[in-house]
Amino acid sequence: MNNSIDYRVQPGGHLSGRIRVPGDKSISHRSVMLGSLAEGKTEVTGLLEGEDVLSTLGAFRAMGVHAEGPTHGRLVIHGVGLHGLKPPADPLDMGNSGTAMRLMAGLVAGQAFNAVLIGDESLSKRPMKRVADPLAMMGARIETAEGGRPPLRIQGGQKLRGIDYQMPMASAQVKSCLLLAGLFAEGETRVTEPAPTRDHTERMLRGFGYDVRVAARAEEQGPAKRDATGESPQGRRQLGVSGGQDTTEAAGRTVSLRGGGHLRGGRLDVPADISSATFFLVGASIAPGSDLLLEHVGINPTRIGVINILRLMGADLSLENPRDVGGEPVADIRVRHARLRGIDIPLDQVPLAIDEFPALFIAAACADGKTTLRGAEELRVKESDRIAVMAHGLQALGIQAQETPDGIVIHGGPLQGGTVDSDGDHRIAMSFAIAALRASGPITVRDCKNVDTSFPGFVELAARVGLRIESRTGKD
Ligand code: S3P
Repeated sequence: MNNSIDYRVQPGGHLSGRIRVPGDKSISHRSVMLGSLAEGKTEVTGLLEGEDVLSTLGAFRAMGVHAEGPTHGRLVIHGVGLHGLKPPADPLDMGNSGTAMRLMAGLVAGQAFNAVLIGDESLSKRPMKRVADPLAMMGARIETAEGGRPPLRIQGGQKLRGIDYQMPMASAQVKSCLLLAGLFAEGETRVTEPAPTRDHTERMLRGFGYDVRVAARAEEQGPAKRDATGESPQGRRQLGVSGGQDTTEAAGRTVSLRGGGHLRGGRLDVPADISSATFFLVGASIAPGSDLLLEHVGINPTRIGVINILRLMGADLSLENPRDVGGEPVADIRVRHARLRGIDIPLDQVPLAIDEFPALFIAAACADGKTTLRGAEELRVKESDRIAVMAHGLQALGIQAQETPDGIVIHGGPLQGGTVDSDGDHRIAMSFAIAALRASGPITVRDCKNVDTSFPGFVELAARVGLRIESRTGKD
């Protein structure tokens, strides 16, 4: 029998004060991956010490990478270079993390040795053909379980070739997987996305000194600007990129690189995760009397759908002290309570807010009128089927919520207390926890253990700013 964790959240209250939520999960995964493959030492600060990132780190340790930490978000990685990884003795366990499995698939496909990638119950149900198929086109040999699910059995020693790939879905994980495989491939690897997706891999590769080209749609526009950061005052290179990439075109981009280069280690500061900040952006927006400052949040243009959508709903958000941190834009975000209204969520915002919909559905439940989401079928293959699980939970709290194949229709109304099941999905657990700010009775959220995958310390931090939350340990 395993221990399970439930949240019990008392109704009402408001959020106030200033906090920094943990480091960005996407950037943290990539810092461990590129730091491991780099030549020399990489010092990461602000790393998310969540279970997902620890799965990635564990995989590299199992492939012979030496790293000190993480301690208080600091990790020092002694990179082994692109060809320095060693065969792992056991299957590499990616835990709950789709990002870890899909990105590692690309990276491991280019190695000289065999490896098996496994995951937990949720990850074992998630689709992997989206990476296995294009990797096979590059010459990789990957066997999936039935239906294209994990485990992934990767046969090393294959000669990879660059391909020109049009992604059928807007996925940063697929794009990143192919770019990482492309580091080991002969010739050029080109990936075109149907709509903009998070571009942390491209930014960070350039920060590690790798030549990555980015062109709007299929037209090549020549080399993208390189980082001009140079040496840090301490005499070590500050990793990062800058310039030219801070807009999100409506259409996606083509990203390309050539295999056979080198990554150079350096320093990297991970900003706070806008996806974790989201629970507080929504919580403060829905709870009268709230006034909260979220410090040092990453506001990469490919991640700010939640800000755009909340503003369209009438939220009171201001970005203060915008700055550049190692190639990623960062700001402090001030959020105050506001009366929200239901909207039709613009289609072009969907990939830019893909992880934020569980919390945005809570905002919709607290808004005046109807909110409609379309074009978000990807939500059905996340850590849970986020459309179905959120719809059931909202209904249990007295909200009218109808699923559609690719979205949901939510009618704002009074939230009752009740019991909801997160289905082991971290973002759903935290979303229903903040819903209690506007509920008329206590909310119990079941199966919250996986909050540790992305947001260790959530209960303490949320309680510190005013959420009346406690966690209870029970038996499954
Ligand atoms: C991620 C990409 C997104 C996102 C996930 C993290 C990444 O997934 O949902 O949480 O770090 O690349 P998709 O690429 O499948 O949309």
